[in-house]
Amino acid sequence: MKIGVFDSGKGGTTVLEAIKRILPEEEYYYIADSKNCPYGNKTKSELLQITSEIVDELKGWGAEIVVIACNTATTNCIEDLRKKYPELRFVGVEPAIKLATNTGARKILVMATPGTIESERTVVLLNRNKKSGQEIELLPCPGLAEAIENSDDIQKTLENVLKKVLAQANKYDCVVLGCTHYPLIKDKIQRFFPNALMLDGGDGTAMQVKRLVENLWKNE
Ligand code: DGL
Repeated sequence: MKIGVFDSGKGGTTVLEAIKRILPEEEYYYIADSKNCPYGNKTKSELLQITSEIVDELKGWGAEIVVIACNTATTNCIEDLRKKYPELRFVGVEPAIKLATNTGARKILVMATPGTIESERTVVLLNRNKKSGQEIELLPCPGLAEAIENSDDIQKTLENVLKKVLAQANKYDCVVLGCTHYPLIKDKIQRFFPNALMLDGGDGTAMQVKRLVENLWKNE
């Protein structure tokens, strides 16, 4: 089966790798839209325009499933893309807030792009999953995905975006990496949060793709 995967650059390869680990036999097409990176500071309508062009391209290559390997594009556009392309199946990656709350962590930090943090979907995820006694803090990280994409000033940008939470870094027991670029620098982030479990949405997304592929094969 042909599966198209895209992101604003190399971040989505972290999701692609997770999918390939459990579905090695499928045919993959990956678009790294680095010319439009970062997605994280674009408006919803700009994102819909950009992602529609990518979906058209993947569709032209015969993709039946499109994986939006980007939290920003998923939280802002997946519902509109599903309506616009009813003939395709979409799977998106979302900040792993549900997974984090299910670990029983008391103090959770969600790092993501400004676009993801400000999306309605993130608010829904938070309200739906937060359990009593849990504290969830949303931290927009402007510039971090771009720094990772360009391998430029990563450490300085990271220190800058974390400045607000560093005084209490030891208190977080879970950090959600809510942008697919962040797992690429997981070790660097972990150093600031020695007691925290780091979670991302890659494996959950891969499992969803697997279920979808199995269902499609069954119905053929
Ligand atoms: N990697 C993407 C995400 O998961 C987008 C980062 C960006 O381009 O701002 O949000």
